[in-house]
Formats: sequence, structure tokens, C-alpha cells
Amino acid sequence: MSIFSRHLCRTAVAAALTFGFGYAAHAQQEIKLGYALATTSHYGVAADKWQEVVEGETDKRFVFRHFPSSGLGGEREVLEGLQIGTVEATIVSSGTLSNFVPDAGVFDIPFLFRDLTHARTVLDGPVGQEILAKFEDAGLIALAWGEQGFRHITNNRNAIEGPTDVAGLKLRTMENPIHITAFNTLGAAPTPMAWPEVVGALQQGTIDGQENPLSVITSAKLSEVQEHLTVSGHVYSPAMLLVSPDLWNSLSDEDKEIFKKGAAEAVVAMRAFVDNVETSGVEQLKSEGMTVGELTVEQKAEFQKALEPAYEEYYKTYGKDLIDSIIASE
Ligand code: PAF
Repeated sequence: MSIFSRHLCRTAVAAALTFGFGYAAHAQQEIKLGYALATTSHYGVAADKWQEVVEGETDKRFVFRHFPSSGLGGEREVLEGLQIGTVEATIVSSGTLSNFVPDAGVFDIPFLFRDLTHARTVLDGPVGQEILAKFEDAGLIALAWGEQGFRHITNNRNAIEGPTDVAGLKLRTMENPIHITAFNTLGAAPTPMAWPEVVGALQQGTIDGQENPLSVITSAKLSEVQEHLTVSGHVYSPAMLLVSPDLWNSLSDEDKEIFKKGAAEAVVAMRAFVDNVETSGVEQLKSEGMTVGELTVEQKAEFQKALEPAYEEYYKTYGKDLIDSIIASE
């Protein structure tokens, strides 16, 4: 017997003695869970909760392995991994979701939601749930909407008070057609880019800025590479918890309910994180040296006015009635 096999034997015996023979004998399935941010972010907190519920309620028949900080690649690549079954689970932004299910893009329309409560009510209500169900046809199983907060602009060129201040600004956007239309309409120079390339591009100056919620700006330490923060809240940023069809189709009905329950509890944890960072994030970023300006109600109205031509495009894609009904909903 080689040294390696002897070591394996000893490990198996030790495991059996520690946990009991029954435990050591039952099969465990690894769940690779990929996400773009650090374990200390809102995604990390949600991932921990999802793991806690699923591992706890299945007696560790499923064991989560985290791949934080884009450890499995950009969000599009991870979603493609779910489709082909090389990745079991993910938490992603809405960045590339509308490239898989076009209807999901309706929530990426700027100035659609008044506040977090409004957004959460719509996502948890019939419109949001119908869109979740559409992911199955795209080879993905969407279990719940999560969230990141409202997106704000950071950049190294100038403070932003009105639409003219973003003219020509090389602004990294997600690979998201709705956002790209908005920033083109404002006269900026939107540069779609996968997240893993963004910090390097900001450092090298190939882009002037980017836009993301406070949850991301703080977690990704963007104050180290960005000077100005404009609290613009120009668009709500949903997130989504998904699993692969391969995993889903292999689960019993009881285990499906456990994965769903874990995802729902993960969303509660993620939203609590966002609530907290929405109140503390600006002060933190100021203390880290960023120059911060918040758009006034009037300045936001100027952006909304400038975005009217983009809204004409959104009406064509999603229907004016749907957009108006989301805006008007309580
Ligand atoms: O900007 C993005 O691409 C996303 O908001 C991020 C940072 C990857 C989180 O999902």
C-alpha cells in the first residue's frame, strides 16, 4: 500500500470515528456556488445563509463550496456554466440576465422604482415571479430575486450634477442593453465590460468611471481607484439566485423546497445587508477619501427628462402599459 493510500485509509477511518459510520457512509454532493464579490459582501452573506439552510436541513447531503470574487469567471460565463451543468449555483446581478430572458430587462430601466420597498414589492409580486419562471426556457432555474441596491456613478474625471457632466464620460456599464441605451442617450461613452476587468481598467485609466450600488462600491473597495462618487440612484440593481437544471432535475421535491427556502432566507439576509450599507456606505466612502455629491430632486428630474428618448425605446420593447403600471404600483 502506498503512503498516499495509507493516508486516505487513515482519513476515512478518522472521519468514520468522528462522525459515526452512518454519516461517513452517506453520499454528499458538492454545490459549486459562484459569485462576483468578496465573502464579506451582500453576496457572501446571502451565500452563507443559503449554505446554512441547505446543509442544515439536508444533514449535509449537499455541501456548498464558495467561489467568491469571480472565482469561476464573469457573471455571463457562470450562467453559461449553469446551463451546461459545470456549475451548480450562483448569485448574480441583472447585468447579463436580459441576454438570457429579454423580459427580465424591464427592471433595469432607469428611474423605474421609487425606493427599495417599491422594488421589493414588484419583484416579489406577480410581475417579478412570472419573469423568474421564464428562466426555465433559457436553461436556468431562477429561485429568487435578490438585490444590490440603487446604482450610483463613480469616476475620476469630474463631479456630476447634471446630464452635461456625463458627456463623453468613459463609463463602464454592465453588458446590459437597457443600461447601455440609457448612457448613450445621456451622451456618455458607455463601455460594457465584464466585472473581473473593471478595477484594472479603472487603475489603468482606460475608463473614467463605473456605476454600481453602495454595496458593491464599498465591498470592492472602489474608493482606492475612484475619486468622485455621485449618489445618483439612477437605476435599481436586482440580483438573482439560480441553480443549474442538472442539479434541479436531480432533486427530490423535498430537496427542491429546501433549496428554495434557503434562497428565500438568503434574500432576507442580502436585503438586510443592503439596508445597512445604504445608510452607512456614503459616510464610509467619504472617510476613505471620496468626494461625494448627492443629486437633488431637481437634478434627478433633469436626468429623467434627458432620458425621455430612451424611454421611447423601452416602451417599444416592454410596452408602455407594463412600465407605467410598475411605476404607479404601491
Ligand atoms: O457591475 C456589475 O457587474 C455587478 O453589479 C457586480 C459588481 C458584478 C455584482 O454583481
